[in-house]
Amino acid sequence: MLETLNNIERDGLAKLGDASDGDALEAWRIAYLGSKGKLRAVMPMLKDIAKEDKPAVGKRLNEVKAVLESAFEARKAGLGSQAASGPALDMTEPGLIESRAIGRRHIITRVREELVDVFARMGFAVAEGPEVEDDEHNFVKLNIPAEHPARDPIDNFYVDAPGSREHPRMLRSQTSTVQIRVMEDAVARGWGPPIKVISPGRVYRPDTVDATHSFMFHQLEGLYIDRDVTMVDLKSTLLHFARAYFGEDAEVRLRPSFFPFTEPSAEFDMKIALQPDAEPAWIELGGCGMVDPNVLTACGIDPEVWTGFAFGFGVERLAMGKYGIPDIRMLFENDVRFLEQV
Ligand code: DAH
Repeated sequence: MLETLNNIERDGLAKLGDASDGDALEAWRIAYLGSKGKLRAVMPMLKDIAKEDKPAVGKRLNEVKAVLESAFEARKAGLGSQAASGPALDMTEPGLIESRAIGRRHIITRVREELVDVFARMGFAVAEGPEVEDDEHNFVKLNIPAEHPARDPIDNFYVDAPGSREHPRMLRSQTSTVQIRVMEDAVARGWGPPIKVISPGRVYRPDTVDATHSFMFHQLEGLYIDRDVTMVDLKSTLLHFARAYFGEDAEVRLRPSFFPFTEPSAEFDMKIALQPDAEPAWIELGGCGMVDPNVLTACGIDPEVWTGFAFGFGVERLAMGKYGIPDIRMLFENDVRFLEQV
């Protein structure tokens, strides 16, 4: 009996070494450890063994079983995935999920980056300012007097009650606030003028939401201050931008207008083909003008030495035109079916 067990152990270990795939391993398991395997086959012999030898033989039987079982597990682990029954794993096969949904930047983010890119090539640096502003930067230093209708609490998201502190805080209603911040900063740090910045960012107004209005939207502001800056520089900058962004046929036109922070002021339109095969058409884009001397003075810049232009326009307007988006709400609902298309 002991002899037989020794043989099973020796042969079993040798044959296990030869099993090199899942099928061979399974066949070995059945042959040695299975319910009709070699170890089970010796069990009936136990009853013929002398009583005093039984404990030793039983012990040896358990030993051999344990040795073979652990050798089997070790071999299986060593063979790894080859030991799995069934066809071997083909790593080159396409997965069941053909492609994962890959996220991308929001359309407004992309348009903003495109715009920043074009202006950066014209030498504009990017400046940012806080979205929670105070009325000093949103209105006062932009030459917008206290009684101006734009300051009406009903038309702004004030954070502090008007009059509750010297400069009540509010969500900025225009990116023109950044003009003030940049000029103040340039003077305080002594690095400018000249100043040449654009500032893209969110603005907030309590407008009733419809297809073309939202309580939050994006603007891009431009500011250039230097010696001898004129309207010619303003118009040629806008024209340059229009041609770089929309193509060589783009045109720009200025219409006289009024803004408290520029003098003279204008609104500007661009004649552009928004869709690839559409006829170019004039679209109203934004406001611009020569920075009002009062604004320069409020920021500590001498208007006798420095002049500048400023402009500002809405980003959604451009993005919606360029990508044929009929409703501004689509930009903020974040419906993946929409986001995947643009
Ligand atoms: N801030 C103005 C608005 O929100 C747009 C604007 C007009 C910006 C004229 C300017 C400017 O910089 O010069 O309607």
